[in-house]
Amino acid sequence: MTGKFDTSSGTQWLTIPENVNPRVLATREGYDLWSEIYDSEQNPLILLEEPEVKFQLGNVHGLSVADVGCGTGRHAIRLAREGAKVTALDFSSGMMGRAKEKAVGCSVDFVMHDLRMPLPIPDRSMDRVISCLVIDHFHAAQLPTLFRELGRICRQDGFILISVMHPAMLLRGVQARFADPRTGVEIRPKASTNLVSDYVIAAQIANLPFLALSEHTMDVGIAAKAERAQKYIGWPVLLMMKLAPQGVSNI
Ligand SMILES: C[S@@+](CC[C@H](N)C(=O)[O-])C[C@H]1O[C@@H](n2cnc3c(N)ncnc32)[C@H](O)[C@@H]1O
Repeated sequence: MTGKFDTSSGTQWLTIPENVNPRVLATREGYDLWSEIYDSEQNPLILLEEPEVKFQLGNVHGLSVADVGCGTGRHAIRLAREGAKVTALDFSSGMMGRAKEKAVGCSVDFVMHDLRMPLPIPDRSMDRVISCLVIDHFHAAQLPTLFRELGRICRQDGFILISVMHPAMLLRGVQARFADPRTGVEIRPKASTNLVSDYVIAAQIANLPFLALSEHTMDVGIAAKAERAQKYIGWPVLLMMKLAPQGVSNI
């Protein structure tokens, strides 16, 4: 068994890579390529995450929702069909192109945008702000700025819901990845090795109080649907954060 120490977050920890030779692409380029198969994969992380997001958001009818890093519109389109007024941002034309194709008959305001820039959404205009499986593509040092933006656009009585691959997956050498359908080579859109503490500290710096923080392990039911998840049964694979906007106490 081989391993390496990663020091990018200032912490030394041993990783045990499952594949020592993935091809790492710039994040946007990676997702443009992934968009071709993103919706057709039986992605176990998504199978685990989707019901959690639905549960946490509850009834969205009549609410304004920002989907920050919407990808192929997995959440944005469902929420719009349930009566939410959705603004969906992403910088991958491949991912957003798929989302637009699927969004026939429902109105989603799709905006091409690099989330490293200030969000093109007015202050306190959104009842719900979601960012699902996106923020692991941000370095720890970039997170507080993004979190501040999420808080800025969220109404005082609203909340922010964030999901991310659990940092414990880094211990297995796993980051966002897919197999290139043409070559079978594992492709990784560039991601960061953030720890749980990086996310917690970013929320604290951005002055976003935690309403909930939960860690989810892979379960047998999902692993039965997605063979590749078998080896993660019982392992933390998903981290969810529910945050209040700035200036709201969580007590
Ligand atoms: C794993 S996908 C998740 C998509 C969708 N939220 C979902 O859960 O299915 C990550 C998305 O984040 C987007 N993304 C990553 N970094 C970004 C950035 N700096 N600006 C805009 N979008 C970004 C990617 O283009 C990709 O669509």
